Amino acid sequence: MLTEINIGNLSLRNNIFLAPMAGVTDLPFRVLTRNFGSSLCFTEMVSANGLVRRTYKSYEYLKSSPDDRPLGVQIFGSDPDILCEAAGIVTEMGADLVDINAGCPVKKVLKTGAGAALMRNPTKFAAIVKNVRKATHLPLTVKIRSGWGHDELNAIEIAGIAEGCGADALILHPRTVKQGFSGVADWNLIEMVKERAGIPIIGSGDIRRPEDALAMMEETGCDGVMVGRGALGNPWIFRGITTLLSDGTVSPSTPSLVERESVIRLHLEAYISLYGEKMGVKSFRKHLLWYTKGLKEGSKFRKAAVAVNEVGELHEMLHKYLQSLAGGISHAERLYSGVTIPI
Ligand SMILES: Cc1cc2nc3c(=O)[nH]c(=O)nc-3n(C[C@H](O)[C@H](O)[C@H](O)COP(=O)(O)O)c2cc1C
Repeated sequence: MLTEINIGNLSLRNNIFLAPMAGVTDLPFRVLTRNFGSSLCFTEMVSANGLVRRTYKSYEYLKSSPDDRPLGVQIFGSDPDILCEAAGIVTEMGADLVDINAGCPVKKVLKTGAGAALMRNPTKFAAIVKNVRKATHLPLTVKIRSGWGHDELNAIEIAGIAEGCGADALILHPRTVKQGFSGVADWNLIEMVKERAGIPIIGSGDIRRPEDALAMMEETGCDGVMVGRGALGNPWIFRGITTLLSDGTVSPSTPSLVERESVIRLHLEAYISLYGEKMGVKSFRKHLLWYTKGLKEGSKFRKAAVAVNEVGELHEMLHKYLQSLAGGISHAERLYSGVTIPI
């Protein structure tokens, strides 16, 4: 099940990817998940308009590094010419793959005719995929949803158009626009799209544990999977998935406290390097929340941590907090971490 996969002329070491997530999948998080096994990461959605108009923020999203490869850049927009120009820009800037966002359900985006609104306009959608295909030599993917609502499911039709217009793979998050991120992803639709497709189909939606990735692949026959929310505060999920799919071993679902602390430290340091101390500490708070969700006294720690603006102080607070939990960790966890924590 864990296999190498080709998307266009891009050979990937495995078929487990990090899903694009606005406000989350920046350079530090992408590198972190790669270290645990994700073979392909995507930027968050980047406005094609912003790229063409040279908006600073749009270019910030493209920041990458040699250990952040291969990188898919996701662009969104509704004007075929602008999307083509944007695809040309990201190609020149060194992307490894271009993805067209045809699944964003956010009102502000839909209002401009972009994101999932493209699924309601198959003619325009076809023109976009066909033209972007011509504008870049890079592998091209398209990310879609099930459709607008349960009475308007057209993922199968849209997937066929994407393939016919030259997409090298299709990513399907089988929720409707009306569903947003609630309810359950309809994996049956992934199976239906896969049965009809001649290009790789990547499934996205509701992979929270390694077993879910295995189940999605078994139930739908999809060629690869993408992990979104299941990776928040949990980059280890990629190790769990790649291990399970390669040799059937179930690894501990949570890391040792020692590993948790060292990963959070690395992540935070990378944040500070990229965003500077003030911005970095502030914008890292969401990750701290995810990393400590479900841990004992987590809310107390988070309440104190949001008041901290200095990185050294944050490291110290985190260390003390995780040490305070050490007394509660199991013998198995201490063995797993390979480190003896004084109780
Ligand atoms: C905070 C957040 C931001 C997201 N941003 C994007 C995005 O920029 N582009 C995109 O195609 N999908 C985006 N998604 C959707 C995810 O890529 C994914 O398809 C969806 O969350 C379902 O997968 P999951 O259940 O594993 O989270 C976002 C999801 C979340 C939770």
